[in-house]
Amino acid sequence: MVTAWDPSDGKIHNYLADAHNHGGVWGSVPLWTIDCYEHAYFIDYGSDRKAYIQAVLNNVNWDAVNARYETIGR
Ligand SMILES: [Fe+2]
Repeated sequence: MVTAWDPSDGKIHNYLADAHNHGGVWGSVPLWTIDCYEHAYFIDYGSDRKAYIQAVLNNVNWDAVNARYETIGR
């Protein structure tokens, strides 16, 4: 999932992609992303995707995400 700001409508969207090379939105500015494919978490979390996502969310530096958002030319 990629959380990105889209200058075409001036809004933030969550984009989901079925593959790493599909689903990109031209012109959008990524603010935050999480890789939920098995290769991202299986070694550490086995099939417990929920635990992986929770661990990621517990460690997001939202100040950095916000700073990124503040730097885009809105
Ligand atoms: Fe990946």
